[in-house]
Amino acid sequence: MSSSSRKCQDGDLASKLHGRLAEDEFGKKPAGKARGAPEKKAKSGKENVENDPRYVYIKAEGAFDKSPYLRFGRFMLRENCQCSECNHPDTAQRISDTFSIPVHVKEEDIVHKPEGIEVSWSDGHKGVYSYDWLKTHQNDVGRPSRTPNRGRMPRMPRSCVPCWPHESKRPTVSYEQVMAEDKYLLDWLEKIYWRGFCFIEGVPVTPEATKGLIERIAFIRHTHYGGFWDFTADLTFKDTAYTNEFLGAHTDNTYFTDPARLQLFHLLSHTDGSGGENLLIDGFAAAKTLWQENKSHYQALQDTYHPWHASGNDDICIQPAQSAAVFHVNNDLSNVDQIRWNNYDRAAKRNWNVEDQARWYEAAKHFNAILNRKNRQFWTPLEPGTALIFDNWRMLHGRSQYTGKRRMCGGYVNSDDFLSRLRVLKYGRKKVMDNIGNYYKGSPDNPNLFI
Ligand SMILES: [Fe+2]
Ligand SMILES: [Zn+2]
Repeated sequence: MSSSSRKCQDGDLASKLHGRLAEDEFGKKPAGKARGAPEKKAKSGKENVENDPRYVYIKAEGAFDKSPYLRFGRFMLRENCQCSECNHPDTAQRISDTFSIPVHVKEEDIVHKPEGIEVSWSDGHKGVYSYDWLKTHQNDVGRPSRTPNRGRMPRMPRSCVPCWPHESKRPTVSYEQVMAEDKYLLDWLEKIYWRGFCFIEGVPVTPEATKGLIERIAFIRHTHYGGFWDFTADLTFKDTAYTNEFLGAHTDNTYFTDPARLQLFHLLSHTDGSGGENLLIDGFAAAKTLWQENKSHYQALQDTYHPWHASGNDDICIQPAQSAAVFHVNNDLSNVDQIRWNNYDRAAKRNWNVEDQARWYEAAKHFNAILNRKNRQFWTPLEPGTALIFDNWRMLHGRSQYTGKRRMCGGYVNSDDFLSRLRVLKYGRKKVMDNIGNYYKGSPDNPNLFI
């Protein structure tokens, strides 16, 4: 069987299955009467999907046969504008600034075209949406918001030493020592764990030495970008990270079920230009500030689950196995152990009502404002010979715009492999094995408290 005919058969099966799912998703078959306009009253106590002023309704005939109207939260629709200024045409990443959109943004005019709609928004932006996108991202009226941990107490980030940019002493190790002896390797891993990042000085300015340095911890994690990467800005991989543009603070791999734990960068050369300083922000310290300033905002980031994606290259569209919150709670230790913060890769969420939308956007705006406080931003120039490694589950990173030509190399390490190396070096194999499955916080020397 040729691959194209297999694809066709699978496609038929998929469309049958999906057809069934679509019916289940919105509950019962629609009433026979076709509606020409929004109705005033809900029937039999059920929510009337077409008459709620908190939402905007968009007419799309044949959209789904219960109603010709699709409904959206206004802010959600505005922030997910599909025009090329808001959604990068090559990388499919969100490039608009969600947090500068007015909270009470409103549609002023909607023009229907054969392929989709144009919305004139009250902030002056002209939004563009295809009918296909609208149908698959309309508010999911039949279901409650997906908040599996709703009502659960907010949980603090795991213990760590906060990283403050004004500190003069930055965590540093020597390449030579780390490569030579395990006690220095352990010192390096502990610095990464407690401080969130570490510089490695005296690294030979070659990709080979840099690769060997990462592999001193564990094997390099492969992704759709490859394993060990070595690139100049040429947009080989369709991701904003591979350009010379400004990159706002984010964590990497929000679109993986298991985001990489560590990332190491090494600038091999920068010629004919300037800029490109690296930005680090301690996400756990920022989360603690959010907790202190508004616990319900903290809770919203902990219990609201989002879809995420990486879809830049034509042959991939990666999404985590399940939607994921910005603050991930470790269920064994009841602490937040991971932050996912990437406005470029956050996908449009449909299964939340307009109250939950407002709650999350307000919380996210607050967290974003904390991240933008200058006293949290650790800007540092990258230099050949000094590599930087950081904990991608905790630290947010970014980059200023640059000119000229840069050659950077680096790679990722998985969390499990990093923690295995750290625990075994610190406690010895026997103690680690004796504690398999022990998550008791009262044991002060329990290796599993390193999460
Ligand atoms: Fe990144
Ligand atoms: Zn737009």
